[in-house]
Amino acid sequence: MASKLKSTKELMVFLGKSMIAFLVSMIFIIVPRPRKNVAGEIVLITGSGSGLGRSLALRFARLGSVLVLWDINEEGNEDTCRMVREAGATRVYAYTCDCSQKENIYRVAEQVKKEVGDVSILINNAGIVTGKSFLDCPDELMEKAFDVNFKAHLWTYKSFLPAMIANNHGHLVCISSSAGLTGVNKLADYCASKFAAFGFAESVCMETIAQKLKGIKTTIVCPFFIKTGMFKGCSTAHPFLLPALEPDYVADKIVDAILQEKIYLNLPKFISFLMFLKSFLPVKVSVLLTEYMGALNVMDGFVGKNKKN
Ligand SMILES: NC(=O)c1ccc[n+]([C@@H]2O[C@H](COP(=O)([O-])OP(=O)(O)OC[C@H]3O[C@@H](n4cnc5c(N)ncnc54)[C@H](O)[C@@H]3O)[C@@H](O)[C@H]2O)c1
Repeated sequence: MASKLKSTKELMVFLGKSMIAFLVSMIFIIVPRPRKNVAGEIVLITGSGSGLGRSLALRFARLGSVLVLWDINEEGNEDTCRMVREAGATRVYAYTCDCSQKENIYRVAEQVKKEVGDVSILINNAGIVTGKSFLDCPDELMEKAFDVNFKAHLWTYKSFLPAMIANNHGHLVCISSSAGLTGVNKLADYCASKFAAFGFAESVCMETIAQKLKGIKTTIVCPFFIKTGMFKGCSTAHPFLLPALEPDYVADKIVDAILQEKIYLNLPKFISFLMFLKSFLPVKVSVLLTEYMGALNVMDGFVGKNKKN
């Protein structure tokens, strides 16, 4: 009897809290959500030497943040460093770091703590793509994809999360991908690494909620193709529904999601609708939908950044 009462009470509390959360989210459809101030926050961006990482760095520079830029590409990172200074950042620190190497991450992270301070916004953005079908993909390239796209997130969190917990203040940002939500032909290693990054970031988010660490926020980003050259040669089957995205547009949306402390950001929004359909459609219809949306041949023309054509 007591346990029945307890479970009825739990159900009522759950329904009550859900109702309030639902109403609050409805209100924020009409009223703009408050945005936090990131001036003076120490923002670390991995993969800042080009593409999305550089666009993000420029935006945080304009918002008055202290920037810590990590990339394996020293030259590209120095260019970003110069550009963010021109954009108004007064404190910018560039480090050459190979995010596929755990020891390298730990060493550079210690250097950052000594030279700059506690990182309060960590953006795991560095990424690579192999673009081959599974059996054609050499082991070392698959391992590298996992090291950069997923395992680097483990080591950066281990390095910077303890101080965020001690200060009860921090924001963890995971740049996953729409390929972290659904399988794609010729992206087996990439999809697996992006699914892993998503699952890891979401699990740590659940840990912070369970431990009532209210000051630690999480944002997980799943964009479709971005015109940075990473997926050069690939084409989208239905540009009206799933367009290739401009890096500036994606960077604006990510920064806005961070400032609003949103947990999930799928770009374009249509990705969320596709995932919703996939969750209940009969499997065969879901596969047909996946095929219609281009997941079987989207990589056919893939050239990528490293190959010349
Ligand atoms: N471009 C897209 O279509 C697309 C779509 C969805 C998600 N993403 C993700 O967005 C992120 C940014 O990609 P992008 O499009 O700007 O590509 P990009 O190639 O322009 O940028 C990736 C950056 O990561 C750096 N990097 C690669 N290996 C590294 C390593 N071992 N250590 C440190 N830095 C390393 C590169 O030097 C580069 O500056 C990636 O995680 C990518 O998977 C990209």
